[in-house]
Amino acid sequence: MTHEFVMEAKNLHKSFTYPRKITILKDISLSVNKGETISIVGASGSGKSTLLHILGTLETPTSGELSFFGKPVTEAEIPELRNKRIGFVFQMGNLLEEKTLLENVLIKAKIAREPTGPKKSAHEEALFLLDRVGLYDRIDFPVKYLSGGEKQRATIARALMNNPSLILADEPTGNLDALSGQTIQNILISTCKELGKSLIVVTHDLHFADLCDRKCELHEGILVE
Ligand SMILES: Nc1ncnc2c1ncn2[C@@H]1O[C@H](COP(=O)(O)OP(=O)(O)OP(=O)(O)O)[C@@H](O)[C@H]1O
Ligand SMILES: [Mg+2]
Repeated sequence: MTHEFVMEAKNLHKSFTYPRKITILKDISLSVNKGETISIVGASGSGKSTLLHILGTLETPTSGELSFFGKPVTEAEIPELRNKRIGFVFQMGNLLEEKTLLENVLIKAKIAREPTGPKKSAHEEALFLLDRVGLYDRIDFPVKYLSGGEKQRATIARALMNNPSLILADEPTGNLDALSGQTIQNILISTCKELGKSLIVVTHDLHFADLCDRKCELHEGILVE
């Protein structure tokens, strides 16, 4: 039996044509094993976010192939992949400010049409994840009353909802002071390790990159490990 990667990208290229043609990614291949943590560093504008978006099916490559669990991604599967197989953590968490923390985390289960009432498994999962990121005593708070670090922890809990295999994080600590940033880094890495999730994290923080199993650098469109 051949080895099955959680995600495998083969020979990805990305060019933009407007306002003029630029090539951002040149022949990028990356295979991610279960439970593996991978960092991507690189200069501003080197294409890190573009690459992460492509790996998360949020953007299409100009050419190349993306597979999850050995199967090439098809258009029809993309909504389910984004909801159940991949969890996203962005710099701006994109939480709904008026909704409570618990409601924000449960949104993913609602999108998956799962029952979310008390005692339902989605509800228990959300409580477990919010507890895991240290926010159990804030679950009933509207997001607008949370601190920046708390919002980022909530984003991690939401990303882990629906039990995805792969977490993609783009500068998850970019907006935080050094101490809260380190707390978030530790929570992200330790939660992924504990729950067996693979993680790809884009960061400017070399200390954060060092915490990962594998370190990659994006330079002139090429990914060097
Ligand atoms: N839709 C687009 N059309 C044209 N060019 C784009 C588009 N999106 C991104 N680019 C260009 O692609 C390059 C890479 O952008 P990207 O956001 O991936 O960089 P990055 O490595 O994430 O940078 P940063 O560290 O500043 O976040 C940039 O030079 C940007 O101008
Ligand atoms: Mg970026």
